[in-house]
Amino acid sequence: MTNSERRPLLILENVSVSFPVKKDFPFQKSRFVRAVTDVSLEIYPGETFGVVGESGCGKSTLANTTLGMQRVNSGKIYFDGQELTAMTPQQLKQARRSMQMIFQDPFSSLNPRFSVFDLVAEPLRIQGGYTYAQQRAEVAAMLHEVGLSEGDLDRYPSDFSGGQKQRIGIARALILKPQYLVCDEPVSALDVSVHAQILNLLMDLQEKYHITYLFISHNLAVVKRVCDRVVVMYLGKVMEYGSVDKIFRNPAHPYTQALMNAIFDTDIDCTRERKRLQGEVPSPINPPPGCRFCGRCPEEQPGCSQGEPPLVEVEADHYAACFLHAARRSE
Ligand SMILES: Nc1ncnc2c1ncn2[C@@H]1O[C@H](COP(=O)(O)OP(=O)(O)OP(=O)(O)O)[C@@H](O)[C@H]1O
Ligand code: SF4
Ligand SMILES: [Mg+2]
Repeated sequence: MTNSERRPLLILENVSVSFPVKKDFPFQKSRFVRAVTDVSLEIYPGETFGVVGESGCGKSTLANTTLGMQRVNSGKIYFDGQELTAMTPQQLKQARRSMQMIFQDPFSSLNPRFSVFDLVAEPLRIQGGYTYAQQRAEVAAMLHEVGLSEGDLDRYPSDFSGGQKQRIGIARALILKPQYLVCDEPVSALDVSVHAQILNLLMDLQEKYHITYLFISHNLAVVKRVCDRVVVMYLGKVMEYGSVDKIFRNPAHPYTQALMNAIFDTDIDCTRERKRLQGEVPSPINPPPGCRFCGRCPEEQPGCSQGEPPLVEVEADHYAACFLHAARRSE
């Protein structure tokens, strides 16, 4: 089934989020960090949707908006046909049953004073309706799913390695059988030797429970391996978006090309001219006028700072926001 025939699980329409910046002195003009600006995208049921970009580009903020944990300044988000951004707190609580998150750092995200049973059963208790015996049975079954055992129920996080702690985090996130799971850098805090095991576990559980993943990573090689579609963000805006296969085979945006040049992967086309990323990411308080990649882009043209390039279709399920492509389309 093509994307145009499927109903998206999540739709983001022109979503923007900004944070007020603390004033240095009383009469200073109000300033805002523009964490996410005018993002529109669709995420389909059962897919793994990647979000990539340098630190501070808005990946976590975007993910938090899809969970209803971060208020949007403008735009709309629909989850499973319901407008998330218009829900009452009660409706949001109900919707959140279907949405969960696993954290980057399993060392700090698990309270060391709680047993594994307490940690994994907490969402069941918050949801209500489970007896103690049912909670024990549900948690034991979920531990088994993530490669732990019933014997681990009454142990504490300090008894486990980093990889095992992340398995506890995954068990906790999946105990309510969510439809949608945000994985924010799920392996970056772990020893490299366990990355593949945790990623394989996530993929197996996705297939078994038909979960939709929003997968945030700095690591493009991991994104290429696990994601179906991806959005490349820079300073809060979408630079490129669409099928992972297409974007990795034919990256259209100079920013994506530069990010890809930073990884060594024999599967990525090495015949392309290598364009290195220069300079620092500008401040999101005062992004460059016009295209946000101005000042760092190896292909910058005189007109690039005059207006924001629209996101245009490069090929089916592949979009880029760069005047080079906007110009080609209008030729
Ligand atoms: N609660 C907040 N208050 C003020 N500024 C914030 C807040 N949360 C995020 N920001 C700012 O918004 C921008 C985007 O942050 P975000 O955490 O979404 O980026 P990220 O892409 O997830 O970065 P990283 O890769 O480092 O996790 C950054 O400039 C950040 O400093
Ligand atoms: S619009 Fe211009 S500055 Fe922006 S990515 Fe394209 S070529 Fe580079
Ligand atoms: Mg983040």
